[in-house]
Amino acid sequence: MHEYLPDHVTVQNERFDVFITRERIEDRLAELGARIDADYAGKRPIFIGVLNGAFIFLADLMRHVSIPCEVDFYKLSSYGDEKVSSGKVTERKDLDAAIEGRHVIIVEDIVDTGLSMSYILNLIKHKDPASVRIATLLHKPGAMRFDVALDYVGFEIPTKFVLGYGLDYAQEGRNLAQIYVLSE
Ligand code: IMP
Repeated sequence: MHEYLPDHVTVQNERFDVFITRERIEDRLAELGARIDADYAGKRPIFIGVLNGAFIFLADLMRHVSIPCEVDFYKLSSYGDEKVSSGKVTERKDLDAAIEGRHVIIVEDIVDTGLSMSYILNLIKHKDPASVRIATLLHKPGAMRFDVALDYVGFEIPTKFVLGYGLDYAQEGRNLAQIYVLSE
């Protein structure tokens, strides 16, 4: 595999340095996949990816899961093109799948204030799933303002702006194969 793995990148005239390498991400996904396999043995969970940011994490995480599973997507936007949360959530695309009675795993790229996740969780719970758990690649505990229990967390990170591996800055940088942090 030949992925684009620079040590640092410039996006929108700002420098970002590598923070979580491709190798560390891959090792962590293997651990999370094994936990999901064990936790859902004999079940058929449905992963609900939150677009756009979760698409790469979801695709890679699913390939570490060996039990039968399904996927659907929900689209939200809360950040605009800024580095701080706008404090508003906009729904852009609802689910296609019927999730009543299903075991749902919501998949996010990052939980920052928790606003988006508490909004989605509320919406999913109203559709009467059999169970709901949350998987997030990244979590910023220092920024959390909404109380949501996170079941599968890739990495806890400081309250700093990151990009790559699905996460963007003004829609750029999602293609980077590892995670980068804004240089100080
Ligand atoms: P929350 O609603 O404040 O938890 O923010 C969640 C959403 O904000 C995520 O799904 C991301 O799209 C975006 N976000 C939060 N922190 C970052 C970051 O450091 N880089 C890029 N996007 C971020």
